Amino acid sequence: MRETAETTAEPWATLLVQLRGRSDDDGAGIDLGELAEASERLEALATLIAEDPRAAGVETRDTSTLGSRCEIPELTIYTTPDGLEGLTAEVERLGAELHLPLRLTPAVRTDDDWRDTWKQFYAPLVFSAATTTLLVRPSWIDRRPGDPELELVLDPGRAFGTGQHETTRLCLELLVALAEAGARPDRVLDLGCGSGILALAAARLFPQAAVVAADNDPEAADTTAENAAANGLEDRLEIRAATVLELSDSFDLILANIRPGVLIPIAGDLARRLAPGGAVILSGVLGEEAEDVLAAYGAAGLALADRRDLAEWCALVLRAAG
Ligand SMILES: C[S@@+](CC[C@H](N)C(=O)[O-])C[C@H]1O[C@@H](n2cnc3c(N)ncnc32)[C@H](O)[C@@H]1O
Repeated sequence: MRETAETTAEPWATLLVQLRGRSDDDGAGIDLGELAEASERLEALATLIAEDPRAAGVETRDTSTLGSRCEIPELTIYTTPDGLEGLTAEVERLGAELHLPLRLTPAVRTDDDWRDTWKQFYAPLVFSAATTTLLVRPSWIDRRPGDPELELVLDPGRAFGTGQHETTRLCLELLVALAEAGARPDRVLDLGCGSGILALAAARLFPQAAVVAADNDPEAADTTAENAAANGLEDRLEIRAATVLELSDSFDLILANIRPGVLIPIAGDLARRLAPGGAVILSGVLGEEAEDVLAAYGAAGLALADRRDLAEWCALVLRAAG
């Protein structure tokens, strides 16, 4: 972290979400043999809960995370005291749906240290190809000499998308790779824009492009508008509180970081919004789900052009015939 974070006046609340081990208590927990599989489901829970407007940030700790001391992964969800009860109920619901034995520890804290702890997990991120580099940084970390010229400033907020999550990172990597390869899309759609991070990255990387950012959650659309203004990109984005079914335009590039439960049923509608020769980047897909997603989009006439994997997640680039 390059700068001491500012503090705010309001208290913060956290919800610690831990997997219960078999030896823990009543024997209803997981045993070590089930850990890898349960960790994936916990990560899926992290993705889903990060979309909840009450979650200001979700931090995953496991053996691969800096500062981790735990072999069994756990999540800390940052929220406000008002949001804590509802968020706890939602985590309980998701835990039951995902068959995860969980121990939940809610806490309300007012001390400065606690309030700022979560900020250390939002490091600046650099996405680079040979000559194209994009910096994504939170506002409380200043630019440093030598930082890439192209940047986005994004703070964790009410909508998913700070760039910290694997699914977002994969999209940003692929966007930078497309820009490096000389792609010049005239019209770009970010479907499920959340914070607007992918739409804003596209606006930076493709200066000629008209970018539509759409989300079925009006709060995400509002957050995208705020982030666009904070980055001086408000004139470049058309922001819509809408699903793909409500869009009638055609796009050279579509970005969609949404779970397969949404992506698969809309394959045909999304493919119809793609101009001839256009590309779609699908993320939010676990490696084991890729085949089903590819089958749906293959049936809609799109062909796999690229794939990247990060941890258990993957992102797929598919193309329409030219
Ligand atoms: C995982 S977040 C992605 C946010 C951001 N694009 C990123 O990559 O970090 C998924 C977003 O898709 C939105 N979403 C879910 N279903 C949708 C649908 N059918 N149409 C439009 N947006 C949808 C959610 O509200 C959420 O903001």
